Amino acid sequence: MRFPYSETVLEHFRHPRNVGKIENADGKAIEGSPACGDMVSVYINVDPKTNTISDVKFESYGCASNIATGSIITELAKGKTLDEAKKITWKEASEALGGLPKIKAHCSVLAVEGLRSAVENYEERHGLVKDRKPTTVETVRRRLKKVMNPMAGLDLVRTNLVRDINIKNGTVRVVIDLPPDHQFASAIKEEITEKIEPLWDVKEVVVEFTE
Ligand code: FES
Repeated sequence: MRFPYSETVLEHFRHPRNVGKIENADGKAIEGSPACGDMVSVYINVDPKTNTISDVKFESYGCASNIATGSIITELAKGKTLDEAKKITWKEASEALGGLPKIKAHCSVLAVEGLRSAVENYEERHGLVKDRKPTTVETVRRRLKKVMNPMAGLDLVRTNLVRDINIKNGTVRVVIDLPPDHQFASAIKEEITEKIEPLWDVKEVVVEFTE
């Protein structure tokens, strides 16, 4: 059988660069793949004087392609401005890796999206978002698709745990279909707050559980 990976992919898979977590990172994101259920987290630190990425790390819970792309994407992003980093495409990442098998495209997209979302997270937390659209129920729902349901390995929306979302005067209220004393209730609450709070017009996030 022919090995589907290039030498560069294998090298990055075996010796991934920039693996780990940045504590109190300036920007962070987690992306999950609906295709395979794998995940990647990306953390960035930013030099506010130059708006460049001074440090970047990733944690992967995915396959060899995912790990290799996380490794290459963090290498490509280091020292770039936020705008430049957001423009890195999966095609560039895949080319830098000497090509990825087509069936593995979703794995490289995941790491690329992770970097872009980490930059956006930084921009939101620092009031740098240019296109300030008001937060809608749809915006919140999209973000909740990035919060995992630890019992299923899929997100809260796809596993039907989101009972209700409403927004009033800057307060976003999310109702989750789990008892308040459920073992994952506080972790889920924390993750939801982390995802919704940075939105520019959100003042408060209230997470409620059903009885
Ligand atoms: Fe899931 Fe590659 S198969 S990230």
